[in-house]
Amino acid sequence: MSKYLVTSALPYANGPSHLGHLAGAYLPADIYVRFLRMCEEDVIYICGTDEHGVPITIKAEQMGITPREAVDRYHEIIRRDFERFGISFDNFSRTESPEHYRFTQEVFLDLLEKGHIVEKSMKQFYCDKCNRFLPDRYVGGTCPECGSSNARGDQCEDCGTWLDALDLLKPVCEICGSTPVPRETNHWFLRLDAFQEWLEEWLGHHDDWKNNVLNYCKGWLKNGLRERAITRDLNWGVPVPLDGAEGKVLYVWFEALLGYVSSTKELFAKRGNPEGWKDYWFDPETRLVQFIGKDNIVFHAVIEPSVLHGLGDFILPWNIPANEYLNINGKKFSTSRGTAIWINDYLDHFPPDPMRYVLAINAPENRDTDFTWDNFRSRNNELADVFGNFINRTMKFAQKTFGGIVPESTDPGAPERELMKSVAVARDEMEELLRSFKLKAACLRVMDLAREGNRYFDQSQPWKTARTDIDKCAATIYCSIQFADSLRILFNPFIPHTCEKIGKMLGSSSLLWKDAGKENIPSGWKLGEPEILLEKLKEGFEKVMRSDESATADEGAGEPEVKETVSYDDFMKMDMKVGIVKEVHDIEGADKLFRLMVDMGDHSRQLVAGMKPFYSKDELTNRKVVVLMNLQPVKIMGVKSNGMVLASDDGKGGVYLLQPASDACPGDSIR
Ligand code: MF3
Ligand code: ZN
Repeated sequence: MSKYLVTSALPYANGPSHLGHLAGAYLPADIYVRFLRMCEEDVIYICGTDEHGVPITIKAEQMGITPREAVDRYHEIIRRDFERFGISFDNFSRTESPEHYRFTQEVFLDLLEKGHIVEKSMKQFYCDKCNRFLPDRYVGGTCPECGSSNARGDQCEDCGTWLDALDLLKPVCEICGSTPVPRETNHWFLRLDAFQEWLEEWLGHHDDWKNNVLNYCKGWLKNGLRERAITRDLNWGVPVPLDGAEGKVLYVWFEALLGYVSSTKELFAKRGNPEGWKDYWFDPETRLVQFIGKDNIVFHAVIEPSVLHGLGDFILPWNIPANEYLNINGKKFSTSRGTAIWINDYLDHFPPDPMRYVLAINAPENRDTDFTWDNFRSRNNELADVFGNFINRTMKFAQKTFGGIVPESTDPGAPERELMKSVAVARDEMEELLRSFKLKAACLRVMDLAREGNRYFDQSQPWKTARTDIDKCAATIYCSIQFADSLRILFNPFIPHTCEKIGKMLGSSSLLWKDAGKENIPSGWKLGEPEILLEKLKEGFEKVMRSDESATADEGAGEPEVKETVSYDDFMKMDMKVGIVKEVHDIEGADKLFRLMVDMGDHSRQLVAGMKPFYSKDELTNRKVVVLMNLQPVKIMGVKSNGMVLASDDGKGGVYLLQPASDACPGDSIR
């Protein structure tokens, strides 16, 4: 058994998470961690939001709120989205925590004392018009490496090069658009150059890492490492803990990387064992595995090891399985260009597992990969046809022919023995793949196994033997049930929600990897009710997520039909707010109505809505809605309705709930 400390890059708390984030750093880590737990390894999975730096202050300025309001809001949104998607962190912290401030300031002082940090004067862009220094992304310009005009003062958006703002060609102030000028100021520098030799040697021991990681590092080391400023002129962040450093904060990257440690400290403090974090961070046997997207490689493979090595006692990364990008229709996911697909929009309409499966089987492990809804649909349908179908036909058959009782297998033959042997083979192959971060291959492998199950079922023809040879039929169904349970185990890291449902149906709950390939479900066992696990999707299914695009303008078709004019004041009398549906209940005797309990932020309220013909309970649960708050309360079918949920109606039987934007929170008012 080994000890694992697994991390995912701390997401910036400056917007909700999109599929690109998920595919790069979160889902792969979650699959890996769930697998390790099933192997009974000692593992903790650490993350949290990255709440400082220019990405945050710029977003807050755009929204007209304070940075603190912004990070509070997005921390909560991101946390909830990950939870709904089933990302199973042991701790999800934030870099605004007091523990993180204390720890990062200590580290800064420690490195300063050890001589790894030095104070120096430097030139930095200053905007005369805005009267301020312009750190990082406050400067835009042309990349000196690739010539793209999408470069910022810290990094080029297109080629990923980590830049020094002063190297930018055609610099502009991102606030006012004028040309900034370099001006002298004092900052603290991490002496990366002093770690060059040590890093070369250390990386030399890791030639088993992914090529993208090694190549980036080689490029860096070849150019020679330079001292890097690790402080900034900003009024948001962790203050530099020195006299005379007023107005200066620690550079977000220096400080956020230490968030992995402070989040671990927080975890153990919560567990009532405040020193427990040292068992991981100070034990050289701990395997530190850091899942990131490729734009984070230099920070995790060069800066972080240097800092941790400089400090002494800390462990260094054991592996950094960085992923390439997930693109959408050939383009980068981009918030500003509006090409992102938000996790919460997806989850408002569909369950997490189909997306988990699609992102795993199309994981951008070795090259950028394109996401399209067509591909999503065909992969979803494949999962339903192959895996869903096997479980479903087995359960149905057991129900119909054996009354839902696992039959006695008196006559297992060669096909049965072979099928169970192929489980053991797949299990071991998958284990090797998963341990070496080939999650996509492992996912393909378990699908192949599911296909074998269907072949076995077809060839055994239990629908015939049920009439001609009931012992053989019993052997087939007994074996299929055991096989179903093994599939449940092997699919679990990828689609845990579905596997949990299968576990309920089979009455089986083991989540031990080694139990795949065994006969876990005894004869005579009463099975649960079969239920449909995975829904197939039709072309155009994704339109429900994009209500804005489906609206077509109706040009010049005579007088538009509009109801009588109301005054502005009359309109303003309506109090509308964003809510989240928490519970959905049937109402006796009503086939169109649901009783909803809706979380309005500061209270919860009961509403009756005629949504039953249009939405399932699952689709409504946890969905954001718009509620008319001050409509006269009424009783419908004996149930009190305190307000109204707003929806659009196409007049042809299509009714769609109004969809607040992904950034909206319960209690937000509509205006
Ligand atoms: N917030 C950064 C990003 O989204 C990642 C930070 S990783 C950390 O790219 F380790 F520095 F926290
Ligand atoms: Zn300016």
